[in-house]
Amino acid sequence: MQWVKGNKTIEVSVKDIIELANKFDSVHVDLGTGDGRYVYELALKNPRILCIGIDPVKSQMREYSVKCVRKKLDNVLFLVSSIENLPANLAGIADKITIILPWGSLLRQVLNPSKETVRKLEKLLKKGGELEIVLGYSVELEPSEAKRLGLPELSEGVVKNVVIAGFACHSEKLKTSEIDSFSKEKLSDIGSNWAKKLAFGKYRQIFLVKFVRVF
Ligand SMILES: C[S@@+](CC[C@H](N)C(=O)[O-])C[C@H]1O[C@@H](n2cnc3c(N)ncnc32)[C@H](O)[C@@H]1O
Repeated sequence: MQWVKGNKTIEVSVKDIIELANKFDSVHVDLGTGDGRYVYELALKNPRILCIGIDPVKSQMREYSVKCVRKKLDNVLFLVSSIENLPANLAGIADKITIILPWGSLLRQVLNPSKETVRKLEKLLKKGGELEIVLGYSVELEPSEAKRLGLPELSEGVVKNVVIAGFACHSEKLKTSEIDSFSKEKLSDIGSNWAKKLAFGKYRQIFLVKFVRVF
């Protein structure tokens, strides 16, 4: 896999990632990490957590990866990959997976997850590990993407009957532990750049859904 490490891109094997993970108390994977700000802040505050940001767009992760190198953070990995291409053999590595404000094919997989995707996420988590998804798209504010992806208007009903039902279809191990809804202002607490951007934008409702891997 490709690891965006500061200004360089180097190859890292699954074995290397597992060995590194074993040196930390826990592992947090942020899928669709974007520019990586969330992972940077998380790593800065939690030196005993290995923070792994994953995104298919390599160039996006460069800025915060450079910041991590400058701060000499040894608990960060920025990997070039996607929800579709997650390596199957990273099994049981993650205590937590976050998917914050997914878009494009990542959002499509959250709304209509394939069996393969759900199984990969389930497998990536340790027993007791959490998958946290923050949804905040708006059909009204993003009409062209909504049309392209065929997005339903975001609501509690969609979270329950589409997202949760979609995951439940393919996994008995992932159980919903929390559903929350809040207004966009609270997004700034999350700390990712998209969350901050949307917090200052037009009104939209945000939904948080948490799953726990129960066995
Ligand atoms: C709206 S941005 C949110 C970025 C970040 N989570 C944040 O809150 O700042 C959505 C991100 O999902 C990534 N993405 C799109 N399709 C993806 C996929 N199939 N797998 C993983 N990430 C994907 C995009 O490259 C983009 O960085």
